[in-house]
Amino acid sequence: MIGGLLGAAQSGLLFLEPERAHEITLRALERGLYAAAAPDDTRLSQQLFGLDFPNPLGMAAGFDKDARVPGALLRLGFGFTEIGTVTPLPQPGNPRPRVFRLIRERGVVNRLGFNSGGHQAALARLADRPAGIVGVNIGANKESADPIEDYVLGLRRFAGVADYFTVNISSPNTPGLRDLQAPERLDALLARVMAERDGLPIRRPVLVKLAPDIHDDDLPGVVDTLMRHRVDGAILTNTTISRDTVQGSAYRGEAGGLSGRPLFGRATRVLARVYRLTDGRLPLIGVGGIDSGEAALAKIRAGASLIQLYTGLIYEGPRLIGEIKRTLLRHLETSGAANLADIRGDHAAMWVDMPDA
Ligand SMILES: Cc1cc2nc3c(=O)[nH]c(=O)nc-3n(C[C@H](O)[C@H](O)[C@H](O)COP(=O)(O)O)c2cc1C
Repeated sequence: MIGGLLGAAQSGLLFLEPERAHEITLRALERGLYAAAAPDDTRLSQQLFGLDFPNPLGMAAGFDKDARVPGALLRLGFGFTEIGTVTPLPQPGNPRPRVFRLIRERGVVNRLGFNSGGHQAALARLADRPAGIVGVNIGANKESADPIEDYVLGLRRFAGVADYFTVNISSPNTPGLRDLQAPERLDALLARVMAERDGLPIRRPVLVKLAPDIHDDDLPGVVDTLMRHRVDGAILTNTTISRDTVQGSAYRGEAGGLSGRPLFGRATRVLARVYRLTDGRLPLIGVGGIDSGEAALAKIRAGASLIQLYTGLIYEGPRLIGEIKRTLLRHLETSGAANLADIRGDHAAMWVDMPDA
């Protein structure tokens, strides 16, 4: 999955058991076996929630759960990277196998279940953190007696090293976690999380990551709660429990969250709806099924200020990073737009009206 070293071996990794392929990829990145990207064109830069993003493309959560390779990912060309999900205590996650590739559909089903080395391990690695934007995605332990307190602890402990926080309440693989998206629960969660944030010595942006499976009728209540608590942004979306777009796949029956191309339509539609519900006032990170420059551009036109990907990298390798940046620049040139903010959301209406994917 890594350029240079693994360019030719890219397809070879796809023959290995997914978690083994992932570990090999992380080790290659740890050893510096990749080609560093050139500096970004300034037309791709943006300032959002007080941070200077050199380009809009970030590494999504779940790839670097334990903060092993944030510097390598930034050097590879990502404009920012998000470590985690980290939980307060270490936990093993679900029994293996728990990651499945839907190769024909260009999707992945995972039910990892927040396998994590815990706060202390990630914090120790981030003591020597790279320059560039590193977000910390926080979650709750499976056996936690007070899940909300797990998020509060995440903020408190990582406040010195996180450029921003993502409150992940949308993983389908921790029982009960997604219930925190219900407006009353979300209200209680954000009251405590934002109070903790407001008391930190350094103000850190807090973003909330949502599922693509929130019912259309429930979305306005969720968005209203985010706005009332003045969160800094939202990430749309996590993986889906729907299998509507992969009916023919052998792995459609595996429990877990589906990511990649089969998620693109559903995730982009939710992104556009949130963009409309917030009148474009809340910075949004669009994620789900970006596997080409065109798909990245579509997310921005649906309303994303920033974008992230994970599954696309598994199938396309790191050349995708450069392709996305080149496609965005080409679109700015042909459309006459000066920067990404000029095109953000210009196709939101089209996506909002799209039938459910
Ligand atoms: C193997 C795997 C593990 C993931 N782990 C996490 C995680 O720990 N926390 C999280 O917020 N999202 C996690 N995600 C979700 C991704 O961050 C992303 O929201 C989702 O995969 C959609 O993007 P994609 O289609 O580009 O992969 C994971 C995804 C995959 C495929």
